[in-house]
Amino acid sequence: MRLIGKAGKAAAVAAIAALALTACGRADTGTTAGASGEAAGFAQDSSIGVALPKKTSENWVLAEKLFNDGLNESGFKPTVQFANNGVAEQQNQISAMIANGSKVIIVGALDGSQLGTQLQQAKDAGATIIAYDRLLLNTENVDYYVAYDNFKVGQLQGQALLDGMQAKKASGPYNIELFAGSPDDANAKVFFDGAMEVLQPKIDDGTLKVVSGQTTFEKAVTQDWKAENAQRRMDNLLTGSYSSETLDGVLSPNDTLARAVITSVKSAGKSIPVITGQDSELESVKSILAGEQYSTINKDTRKLVEHAITMVKDLQSGKTPEINDDKSYDNGSKVVPAYLLEPVIVTAENVKTAYTDDPVLGPLTK
Ligand code: BGC
Repeated sequence: MRLIGKAGKAAAVAAIAALALTACGRADTGTTAGASGEAAGFAQDSSIGVALPKKTSENWVLAEKLFNDGLNESGFKPTVQFANNGVAEQQNQISAMIANGSKVIIVGALDGSQLGTQLQQAKDAGATIIAYDRLLLNTENVDYYVAYDNFKVGQLQGQALLDGMQAKKASGPYNIELFAGSPDDANAKVFFDGAMEVLQPKIDDGTLKVVSGQTTFEKAVTQDWKAENAQRRMDNLLTGSYSSETLDGVLSPNDTLARAVITSVKSAGKSIPVITGQDSELESVKSILAGEQYSTINKDTRKLVEHAITMVKDLQSGKTPEINDDKSYDNGSKVVPAYLLEPVIVTAENVKTAYTDDPVLGPLTK
């Protein structure tokens, strides 16, 4: 959750000061002095923990392999684990990573607000904590955040929805429905808020009509990012609100849910609305090529993992990792120093050029 869009300057300054302190603290605790007397971070063959959430989309599955390969190649000893059975499993995994002496723990949280105790223990043990893709909430014990700019993802989705509907029908009103991700995922609200920043003014001026009246995040959520939950909700929305109305557009937060909505609409015998997505999943890129799903977001997982590993290498050699944002992501306890990557919107217009350096999607979209 991007709790505050623009934190005050004082907070940003405090964050940088805190960062400097953290760096000093680290040098005092888990570090050894290099030959030159310069602080070296930690041994090159150290254990590194990577705690991932559930396999709710392809990007997480790819991240597992990339972390294992990349960390091994750099000489570290990685432990990369999913928490498919829930929060308690992820808590236990992080505790085990602390116990095995992990110097850095990278966390893609299942529920970013439920790891406070483990993160405190990790800090006490001298580990550095990097929030990966999803922010860790309400804790001081997170050193860095590396992610695609999630608020921007939402804004791109909202704008794509408008553009797509306008291209089909020059003027409104347009009938739309809104879907959000899983409420325990800290990103879900950020995506939704980003999209609503674009869509809300158009709802207010009557250009957009949410026929079901379900406009809040709480109404729009999809528990566990599960396709069947989105499909069931869409079935109900169609029955309840679209027996005589046309559905022009659907805000979907990711590709898995976009395809579930398309399945629902097709089985109701309706035409496919303009629908957004995210993740550039293979089936959704095919769907864009086939003229069904309207858009997705390119957030190349390889680049994100690579950056997280660069941070680990910097910490290992005693360098402070580079950040490029010190104001956007307030986790409720601090503004977390972040390295944000730029998400890219993909529609039929640019699908043939968007993935040129992707080993799977590149050849498919040529
Ligand atoms: C990620 C998305 C993904 C979703 C469901 C989010 O936290 O940022 O890319 O679609 O989780 O797995």
